Amino acid sequence: MSDPYVARYNAHMDQNALKLAAAKAAIAYVPIDTIIGVGSGSTVNLFIAELAKISHRIKAAVSSSEASTALLKQANIEVMTLNDAGFLSVYIDGADEITPHLAMIKGGGAALTREKIVAAASDKFVCIADQSKLVDVLGAFPLPVEVIPMARSYVARELVRLGGHPEWRMKDDKGVVTDNGNWILDVHGLVITNPVELESTINQIAGVVTNGLFARRGADVALLASIDGVKTLTR
Ligand code: A5P
Repeated sequence: MSDPYVARYNAHMDQNALKLAAAKAAIAYVPIDTIIGVGSGSTVNLFIAELAKISHRIKAAVSSSEASTALLKQANIEVMTLNDAGFLSVYIDGADEITPHLAMIKGGGAALTREKIVAAASDKFVCIADQSKLVDVLGAFPLPVEVIPMARSYVARELVRLGGHPEWRMKDDKGVVTDNGNWILDVHGLVITNPVELESTINQIAGVVTNGLFARRGADVALLASIDGVKTLTR
């Protein structure tokens, strides 16, 4: 009889190998001698390790989270603020879900606001993920919404009016605090057939900092790794 612990461990290792394949493929999208944007999450962590090998080819990086900043610095890659950097040639980041049209849900790691800002300032967005993230319709992954703490329950009521089931993200019995000092609501039960519209609608709710839909500015390229290799999707 197969051991369920071993089966789970093997599945995790397989997924890790796919994330690594996508991370390696992204190196070809890093232009020489430019400042690049770097996202957050386990796939990006693998990308940073690959970037370290060619760090002499880039000028610097702008990071979307304190966690990625720490890893970039460990890899001896200069980290600049976005205000100092200005224009970014490319933004490399993962996703929690992505559609064939390259709209995404992001924010599983609570870094969505800075991710959206760095993505907006970049010429090209390259999404790296394993193929399991590809979906026809967004919403099975709960949609993260970053909120100003005093607005949490007001925003939650408005999200219920939109048909969602918001849940306050907790860790160790405390609300998860983002790098910007805010809280996260994860919205379950949404079937997002028009991500561009829903992204704008949620952002209009007073107290919302931003939501994890990346549809108005989706990815330009997706590198999706499966056991058959890395598939490239473009807009
Ligand atoms: C971080 O807030 C997220 O947007 C990540 O990009 C997303 O959760 C993907 O993470 P993994 O690469 O760990 O799956």
